[in-house]
Amino acid sequence: MNTGPSVPLRFAYWVPNVSGGLVTSTIEQRTDWSYEYNVELARLAEKAGFEYALTQVRYTASYSAEYQHESTSFSLALLLATQRLKVIAAVHPGLWHPGVLAKWVATADHLSGGRIAVNVVSGWLKDEFTKLGEPWLEHDERYRRSAEFIQALRAIWTQDRANLAGDFYRIRDFSLQPKPLPVPGRAHPEIFQGGNSTAARNNGGRYSDWYFSNGNDFDGVSEQLHDLERIAAAAGRSERPKFGLNGFVIVRDTESEAREVLREIIAKADTPAVRSFGAAVQQAGASTSDKRGMWANSSFEDLVQYNDGFRTQLIGTAEQVAERIVAYRKLGVDLILAGFLHFQEEVEAFGRTVLPLVRELEAAEALDTADTAAVR
Ligand SMILES: Cc1cc2nc3c(=O)[nH]c(=O)nc-3n(C[C@H](O)[C@H](O)[C@H](O)COP(=O)(O)O)c2cc1C
Repeated sequence: MNTGPSVPLRFAYWVPNVSGGLVTSTIEQRTDWSYEYNVELARLAEKAGFEYALTQVRYTASYSAEYQHESTSFSLALLLATQRLKVIAAVHPGLWHPGVLAKWVATADHLSGGRIAVNVVSGWLKDEFTKLGEPWLEHDERYRRSAEFIQALRAIWTQDRANLAGDFYRIRDFSLQPKPLPVPGRAHPEIFQGGNSTAARNNGGRYSDWYFSNGNDFDGVSEQLHDLERIAAAAGRSERPKFGLNGFVIVRDTESEAREVLREIIAKADTPAVRSFGAAVQQAGASTSDKRGMWANSSFEDLVQYNDGFRTQLIGTAEQVAERIVAYRKLGVDLILAGFLHFQEEVEAFGRTVLPLVRELEAAEALDTADTAAVR
């Protein structure tokens, strides 16, 4: 069920299309949310060995993110400015009709040579819906809507005439032309999904190509992987969705320097913003009956990084970080989604120092596995 360590680990970075960087802290962040900064970053990232970039979707100011560029248009801009990078555009069911999005994606796919993907986010920020006059559904209903949304996208991209009689969307003999490009290794543009609650796991296990996890330790990742394997098998899928893990990366010459950066980020946290964010995200998994999901048991320190990225502990020297990444790979993680304090310079340094070490360790692992198989 696992995609297995024989496939090299993939890397993605968070696109800083929202102001304020990825930590809610007054520490200096040499990261900018502008178009110009992001084009240069995307070009650096594809050169550094990043396969994917993930844009964020936020429609209105919240928790130290005062300004936001819209995710789908920004994703397309980055695709047109790069050659190989795949860009994952984040979208909310409920604010998009799946047919309209399917059409947008097909066009973006043609314009980019088959490099667009989507991240279906079910929503945790109530204001985003209510201030636009849209209903704020209860948590599991939001995920039921997302399940229909994903099925609608897949049907429209792959069938001549798509039909779906859902509770949220109704598609009748809808024919999309042109379809997305035929690209080896994918049946249609890849569908990622964010969220770790029981409902999110069910959607990931049953319908998504990729499941994104908030930052987590080895046990937390293993537990989610097992759950996804169980759900995918019960749904009759031959493989579980691929697993992307968020991690905030701090690589410095010594471990103590890296730890000192983390200490400073937390010491300079924007406390009121972190506390308000912590209250708002109670709308996520914590609001469900089993209270399982993103941020359901996050500490104040965890919440300083929006997606619990410190928990993954990619903090230390290049060697330490590479070893930890490969340990996650061995558990079954397929992609590391990385955030940084100073994006341009750290993405470039990550490609130069950490990535080659990861590839060396992966090659050594593959040899070990081959040797063990030969002995058997
Ligand atoms: C990697 C990742 C990226 C996400 N990106 C966004 C985003 O850009 N905008 C957004 O509103 N929610 C985003 N989310 C949040 C989720 O879609 C979802 O609303 C939230 O995780 C609640 O999940 P849960 O209750 O299922 O645990 C993201 C989640 C993950 C894991």
